[in-house]
Amino acid sequence: MTLTVGILRDLAVAEKRVAATPETVKKYLALGAAVLVEHDAGTAASYTNQAFADAGATLSDKHAILSASDIVLKVQAPTDDDVAALKQGAIVVAMFNPHHNKPLVEAMASKGATALAMELMPRITRAQSMDVLSSQSNLAGYRAVLDAAAEFTRGFPMMMTAAGTVPPAKVMVMGAGVAGLQAIATAKRLGAVVCATDVRLAAKEQVESLGASFVMVDDPEVKQAETAGGYAKEMSDDYKRRQAALIAETIKKQDVVICTALIPGRPAPRLVSREMVESMKPGSVIMDMAVEQGGNCEVSQLGEVVAHHGVKIVGHRNIPSRIATDASALYARNLLSFVTHLLGKEKSLAGIDWQEDIVRAVCLCRGGQLVHSLYQHN
Ligand code: NAI
Repeated sequence: MTLTVGILRDLAVAEKRVAATPETVKKYLALGAAVLVEHDAGTAASYTNQAFADAGATLSDKHAILSASDIVLKVQAPTDDDVAALKQGAIVVAMFNPHHNKPLVEAMASKGATALAMELMPRITRAQSMDVLSSQSNLAGYRAVLDAAAEFTRGFPMMMTAAGTVPPAKVMVMGAGVAGLQAIATAKRLGAVVCATDVRLAAKEQVESLGASFVMVDDPEVKQAETAGGYAKEMSDDYKRRQAALIAETIKKQDVVICTALIPGRPAPRLVSREMVESMKPGSVIMDMAVEQGGNCEVSQLGEVVAHHGVKIVGHRNIPSRIATDASALYARNLLSFVTHLLGKEKSLAGIDWQEDIVRAVCLCRGGQLVHSLYQHN
């Protein structure tokens, strides 16, 4: 029986991305699958219905896709209505936001459906081509700097003109993970003087190799700040106090701050207080990329550009979606790589090894049960 892959249009607020592109549609067809694409699934990301049809997909409506697809591809988690309309035993691959979506995963389990959460992809070499957090954070880090530059009423590079010299902007990046490192590289390319901070000591060398200076609290605690998976842990109250003093001292000299600090499964660390915002020069810009996880800055508001004491605090939602064509292209390739891996050598549902490490790491529910360790204790 032919495997059917369905691509739905993502309708969440501020979501313009799509989970497949004409390029990946061709590859699914080459795997022997039939591909159904919802009308206008890619329009907001500049992938037209015609381009999908030319690639060999069948354009269809949501209910026809849900009732026929063995594998449904989405950017964000499906809605309750989507889940209710799924085919018996269907697999949904998406970014489920699993820490906050347990009821939805339970609804999927009770339908006998399988939920595979791409953001739980292990950060291992073998899975790099499937790592959606990296592909999306990388583009978001770039876009955040451009958005900050657009809000900033001065330039980034030093400019020596007949009318005098324009000084370079001073940019500080908080959190030097994937998004932060790309933000540093982008701000440097635009000519800014850049510094960055992180709690993981490993970030120091990466920051310095990009030509930025590293600002960090010198404390033995940083040696334990990183989990085995490479993520940050929540720091002690004493460390937080010392870090706040260091940031307060540094931030008042900055023109632009790009906040990217996150702790998986926890609210974003609060790094920029109201007083720190008030210590900055008028015209400064803070881009809070962590706003959807509660924000690194006390003043930021989700989906708003707030002015406080002459400082603009930008809280854009879903920054990867603001660079939707490229973000979709990379996300779609991440999914293709994962689905190809999932289907195994047999390139079929029968070829899936549910005990394989990568598959197990992302599987939230299957066969009527919540199977991920994430749900074992809550
Ligand atoms: P993330 O998005 O969870 O966090 C962003 C950054 O915020 C991290 O660098 C984190 O250390 C930092 N942070 C957290 N709390 C902070 C605080 N209180 N103050 C300052 N900074 C704080 O992290 P992301 O970008 O997803 O990367 C996590 C790790 O995974 C990194 O070590 C990265 O190098 C590694 N990685 C490995 C890959 C692989 O081997 N395939 C692929 C991608 C990332």
